[in-house]
Amino acid sequence: MSTAISPTAYNYKVVRQFAIMTVVWGILGMGLGVFIASQLVWPQLNLDLPWTTFGRLRPLHTNLVIFAFGGCALFATSYYVVQRTCQTRLISDSLAAFTFWGWQAVIVGALITLPMGYTTTKEYAELEWPIAILLAIVWVTYGLVFFGTIVKRKTKHIYVGNWFYGAFIVVTAMLHIVNHMSLPVSLFKSYSLYSGATDAMIQWWYGHNAVGFFLTTGFLGMMYYFVPKQAERPIYSYRLSIVHFWALITLYIWAGPHHLHYTALPDWAQSLGMAMSIILLAPSWGGMINGMMTLSGAWHKLRTDPILRFLVVSLAFYGMSTFEGPMMAIKTVNSLSHYTDWTIGHVHAGALGWVAMISIGALYHMIPKIYGRAQMHSIGLINAHFWLATIGTVLYIASMWVNGITQGLMWRAINDDGTLTYSFVEALVASHPGYIVRALGGAFFASGMLLMAYNVYRTVRASQPAEAEAAAQIVVVGAH
Ligand code: HEM
Ligand code: HEM
Repeated sequence: MSTAISPTAYNYKVVRQFAIMTVVWGILGMGLGVFIASQLVWPQLNLDLPWTTFGRLRPLHTNLVIFAFGGCALFATSYYVVQRTCQTRLISDSLAAFTFWGWQAVIVGALITLPMGYTTTKEYAELEWPIAILLAIVWVTYGLVFFGTIVKRKTKHIYVGNWFYGAFIVVTAMLHIVNHMSLPVSLFKSYSLYSGATDAMIQWWYGHNAVGFFLTTGFLGMMYYFVPKQAERPIYSYRLSIVHFWALITLYIWAGPHHLHYTALPDWAQSLGMAMSIILLAPSWGGMINGMMTLSGAWHKLRTDPILRFLVVSLAFYGMSTFEGPMMAIKTVNSLSHYTDWTIGHVHAGALGWVAMISIGALYHMIPKIYGRAQMHSIGLINAHFWLATIGTVLYIASMWVNGITQGLMWRAINDDGTLTYSFVEALVASHPGYIVRALGGAFFASGMLLMAYNVYRTVRASQPAEAEAAAQIVVVGAH
């Protein structure tokens, strides 16, 4: 054990910046989610302006929650985890700072261009080419910082959380670059290099793996660090985590065609996507069980620790949405669920229940550590946040299940003479109560984020960042 003071404390500045912006973008992105959910209840809220219509604000919502909120959470936690588990400072402060400012510039670009109507029209890849190029440059820099730090690690071993973060970084770069290949015709308009069914296939190879690697693999990296830390228990099975990793990344990449059932895509490709999606249940649940079982012997902590509750409930929602997804990938089930609100419910079981809840839990664990505080300002507020988030998620997904199945059944009902039993508008009217409940659930979830902002503000105001760095220094030295 070394007694010398290490000259290299961790770079917590960039972690703090990304952590704070996670909360800011979370409030904006979810607030916008509540607004567009309300537009579906009260269409007058479209305000008769092109910039505020549902069609333009919906992609802004998805970009803000996925890339701004989710992205900042992934940057913050991956920079924190890689430094602590490799026991070394990030390889370059200036490159890390570039990733922070570059990423915020991409988001501001989205905030301006999407309401103006500039879009590639490809879902989750809407940003036009100048912003897409900036995103690619920032992402490659992120890869350099992350993998450079792993290379100069002081530990022999690469902790499994870093494997997940690493795969998320590499595959996201690959997806973004391949799917964005396009021909610019003006500053804000480009056309995809692909066409027809090929374009659709590449788009959903991208779309599904954005879910698989951005919204899942990265957050699993988070899970593998923060669940054992908060539970103060080692991960249940290290062997299972390695099997989980390889099985997940091998299978996810094939499942994209389940987004294109009953389309012009060749039938064999659709069936392959369906089969791979069903097999995907196994590694997904392997990971979920590994996280849950980490609590063996620590379950009693759930009674008093709302941060651990966030983490465990997020795993429960992960398990639920990765059971639902493979079911929806079965062609006959998909013929009912596709185009309906069931898909929206599935999305938010993953997005609110898994992605947002695990991020919130990880931030509550991490923020006191990077600001030199023993704990968050108020544990009571974390508890209130937990209930608002859980009730909000349940209201959201339950209402969308009811709506989705109602819509699917009404659309396919036919009379004896072969005519449709219900008009589209009748199905819409039947969906109205569900839309009210969804908006209410969203408002619950978003108001929890406001409690979080206040709690973070009070914690930061009383902070001693210098002490956090000094404490980190001691950890580095003590670990030798
Ligand atoms: C307060 C919380 C939220 C509310 C009220 C909300 C509301 C909505 C609404 C109304 C839509 C459009 C649904 C439609 O077109 O019928 C939507 C779409 C979407 N939201 Fe959210 N959202 C919230 C949080 C989130 C979060 C945290 C994420 C991701 C991490 C997310 C990801 C998405 C995605 C991916 C879609 C597109 C779904 C699809 O095309 O199938 N949302 N959201
Ligand atoms: C084993 C895991 C999963 C499988 C097999 C799966 C499968 C599916 C299927 C079949 C659809 C419907 C496609 C359609 O009818 O258009 C879908 C949609 C979607 N899923 Fe999953 N899912 C899984 C996990 C997740 C998770 C954990 C999340 C979020 C974190 C998620 C996010 C989404 C999104 C955003 C969409 C909507 C895409 C769109 O149309 O815009 N999925 N998924």
